[in-house]
Amino acid sequence: MPNFNAVITGVQGWVPNHILSNKDLEQMVDTNDEWIRTRTGIEERRLLKGEGLATSDMAVEAVGRLLEKTNTTKNEIDLVVFATVTPDMRMPDTANTLCDKLGLDNAFGFDLNAACSGFIYAITVGSQFIQTGMYKKVIVVGSDKMSSIINYEDRSTCIIFGDGAGAVLLEPSQEDVGFQDAILKGDGSGREFLYLTAGGSKTPTTRETLEAGQHFVVQDGRPVYKSAVKGMSSVVKELMERNNLTNDDVSWLIPHQANKRIITAVAGKLDFPMEKVTVNIHKYGNTTAATIPLCMWEWENRFKKGDNIILTAFGGGFTWGAVLIKWAYGT
Ligand code: UT7
Repeated sequence: MPNFNAVITGVQGWVPNHILSNKDLEQMVDTNDEWIRTRTGIEERRLLKGEGLATSDMAVEAVGRLLEKTNTTKNEIDLVVFATVTPDMRMPDTANTLCDKLGLDNAFGFDLNAACSGFIYAITVGSQFIQTGMYKKVIVVGSDKMSSIINYEDRSTCIIFGDGAGAVLLEPSQEDVGFQDAILKGDGSGREFLYLTAGGSKTPTTRETLEAGQHFVVQDGRPVYKSAVKGMSSVVKELMERNNLTNDDVSWLIPHQANKRIITAVAGKLDFPMEKVTVNIHKYGNTTAATIPLCMWEWENRFKKGDNIILTAFGGGFTWGAVLIKWAYGT
């Protein structure tokens, strides 16, 4: 048993103002609104525009608002766990940049890359520091400027992704609420289906890699789709069985927003009613590490204290998993 329960005491999202609609994409690549809506459920996505603006700047907006909302002073934060695949720079890490930009003078931080599963990995990591009693206030952020690694001439990826950020504050509690359990998985053999070739130690950026467009995301959608449905539905089932939960005991399922059809298929395999599944992919597309906290932020007012909520994600790596949370506030 942990010394303390790690409880979410606030959640906040932030998305940029600029909207990229399906109609806009029709002007850019050989696609159409009908195809995008029916194949993915996406209607529009947000893009971060502005010289020098990066992933950390979206996180500054989300975390800054989160601190205000939870009446937390900046020097109370101990740790920032920052999930992203689009760090501001290869080094240093974006977590420390965020701490500096926001003035979190007593915090340290680190980045965590688990692609679209980043937030569920990060909230599991952050919760451990609270449960052991080591820290009292931990920020977990998911923020991605996907537009920085997307090829807007590749119709198979540019229609899917968007930019955004979301964050939660974790604090200790003696009550039986908060982080309950997690099952996290990985299968590195999936790396052939979703990747970005250049800029790492294997293939450093050169004129040739730039000319070949190897600084952009590549996805073989079909195998990822199949693995995502199978991975998320089986891990949620395993988590529910392990915690003796039936569908009636679970108030909300918060899935990663990669494709509306994937979400519906996962709910279908679990026989879980769509009324209890959060879906906002039509507005934001796939914001990678930000999808789950963006959903939590939008649904926050509907959550009640004691609600069992399951987060689930699947992403590049492959990485996937599910987290069980007992919501700590709201009536
Ligand atoms: O979040 C991280 C994990 N990622 C995911 O979970 C994403 C998983 N994959 C998917 O969501 C889907 O596979 C996609 C949305 C990426 C693609 O949908 P799909 O139903 O699997 O389509 P497809 O790639 O099998 O392509 C079907 C057809 C092809 O044409 P043909 O060969 O049948 O003539 C494509 O060329 O649709 C074509 N196509 C498009 N047509 C119009 C592919 N992209 C587009 C497009 N507009 N944007």
